[in-house]
Amino acid sequence: MPAMNTDALKQQAGEFAADFIDSGMVIGLGTGSTAIFATRRIAQRLRSGDLHAISTLPTSLATEAAAAELGIPLTSLATHPRIDITIDGADEVDPDFNVIKGGGGAHLREKIIAQATERLVIVVDESKLSEQLGMNWPVPVEVVPFNWESQAAYLRALGGTPALRMAGDRPFHTDQDNLILDCAFGPIADPAALDAALNSRAGIVEHGLFINMARDVVVAGANGVRHLRK
Ligand code: A5P
Repeated sequence: MPAMNTDALKQQAGEFAADFIDSGMVIGLGTGSTAIFATRRIAQRLRSGDLHAISTLPTSLATEAAAAELGIPLTSLATHPRIDITIDGADEVDPDFNVIKGGGGAHLREKIIAQATERLVIVVDESKLSEQLGMNWPVPVEVVPFNWESQAAYLRALGGTPALRMAGDRPFHTDQDNLILDCAFGPIADPAALDAALNSRAGIVEHGLFINMARDVVVAGANGVRHLRK
């Protein structure tokens, strides 16, 4: 089989998962360069008449704009508090389907949508698979700008090495206008314990560890697409 570039693998994973969707479903639309392929495929299925009566909830302003542009019907958790399925990307995925997200800075909205979701499907190319979270990716930590340096000190006390995310020569701002500290921990022995430590700190709004949330992982690689299920 000829080598495929990463974009082609992302497309395969995203489109594969978009075919899990049935008419009438409430759907969370993920953020990033893999999830967008699922969103585009959903739009294609709507246009062809293969899919109808769906409602979707985007996980970022960028995804909201893309969905609106593609003519995909949008809703909110006020109208649809339960989501049937969400298709979203990830930066690192471990064998227990725990993941690190937030490479695009959207993990707060992504987690709000994921926690309202029956079936969270993670779509990745095979480079995202990892034996232990933290080996390949820092944990993005969204913090309020107010005295954010004290959150950086807290992360250092937990054993991490935080770096303020930049957009050019200015700090990156999330959809909520907060800051992100990308915190390298190295291999994370106990992701649930780190999750709890990050959740208990005032000033940390949300972090990119999604523990025990994903039900399916769709992985595209050189040998085709694999659908892993819990
Ligand atoms: C957005 O903040 C992220 O959680 C993305 O879903 C994640 O970074 C994966 O993005 P890509 O599919 O672009 O690699």
